[in-house]
Amino acid sequence: MTTYEVIKNELLSTPKRWLVTGVAGFIGSNLLEELLRLDQQVVGLDNFSTGKQENLSDVQALVGERRWQRFHLIKGDIRHLSTCHAACKGVDVVLHQAALGSVPRSIEDPLGCNDSNVNGNLNMLKAACDTQVKRMVYASSSSVYGDHPGLPKVEVTCGRPLSPYAVSKMVNELYAHVFSQLYSLETIGLRYFNVFGPRQDPDGAYAAVIPHWISALRSGKTVYINGTGETSRDFCYIENVVQINLLAAMTKEPEAVNQVYNVALSKRTTLKELYYLLQKNMLPYCDHPIESHPVYRGFRPGDVLHSQADISKAKQLLGYTPTHSVEMGLEAAMGWYMKKSP
Ligand SMILES: NC(=O)c1ccc[n+]([C@@H]2O[C@H](COP(=O)([O-])OP(=O)(O)OC[C@H]3O[C@@H](n4cnc5c(N)ncnc54)[C@H](O)[C@@H]3O)[C@@H](O)[C@H]2O)c1
Repeated sequence: MTTYEVIKNELLSTPKRWLVTGVAGFIGSNLLEELLRLDQQVVGLDNFSTGKQENLSDVQALVGERRWQRFHLIKGDIRHLSTCHAACKGVDVVLHQAALGSVPRSIEDPLGCNDSNVNGNLNMLKAACDTQVKRMVYASSSSVYGDHPGLPKVEVTCGRPLSPYAVSKMVNELYAHVFSQLYSLETIGLRYFNVFGPRQDPDGAYAAVIPHWISALRSGKTVYINGTGETSRDFCYIENVVQINLLAAMTKEPEAVNQVYNVALSKRTTLKELYYLLQKNMLPYCDHPIESHPVYRGFRPGDVLHSQADISKAKQLLGYTPTHSVEMGLEAAMGWYMKKSP
């Protein structure tokens, strides 16, 4: 049995009470789905700034009414300490996902980014401590590697941040470290690389590259590649991300706690490769081949050129074993993307 299977069995026999912040978002709603499938009690907190009721309705339909009864939603904002206190009450583990994502959004609105991602995160840490939560697993980001050119990215070596978003995630890690040293709260930071999968928002100016390109290809719009097409990312399917959240939440190894981990596959896919992979995977859903070609344009400010994670730390200390390659993930998610693309 894998470590993940052992943990899932343990959770089924001894359920816990969880708080998932950002529960109506992409990653939060996928965490909710898995926790409810494992018969856990879940409190969700979201202000619906980018999250959607539709994501929660999807989960409700997938897990069924009996399991849905174990979920309690708080519509509220992590920028308010009293809301964080109320949400953390009686909770064993917090999976803190709420934040304003997107590098370009943070460049346009650095104050909004700081309010939710830094102040909101600090409120969550303080509330978790005050209510004797044992552990908080929180979403960090590969953006903390900033301008450091080394590949693959290893947790001990960060660069200088290239955007307000990257600053916010770095500050999250600094505060988490300080809280774990000064108070009784255990923290684990997960540096997600480019996550993709069902319930990832395909709409709007800040949509991530995979849903954005699928929408464009589907509606016959031009796909723009920022840069030469050789820019690369370590795309990671959502099921791998759900796995590591539960591994981090449940690990009993003292040296695995109060750490940060890369979350990806350690595989680089260039944007050009991604474009053709998407075209190929969309084929079964189209009546005719997609014959468009991408248009290249300048690099986007704040973006890093290459991204690839070293995931040996997560493998060694947490027993992380990614189950889905990029191709498998795209195959699994394409039906959903095709249904939801505008
Ligand atoms: N998706 C990725 O590839 C990726 C990569 C790196 C890091 N992350 C991080 O993972 C986390 C989840 O990202 P996601 O892709 O699911 O984004 P998402 O936008 O789908 O989800 C974020 C959720 O947080 C909620 N939220 C935002 N500000 C809030 C506030 N002030 N109070 C309460 N709720 C608030 C939103 O309404 C939304 O439901 C974020 O912290 C993000 O920075 C994501």
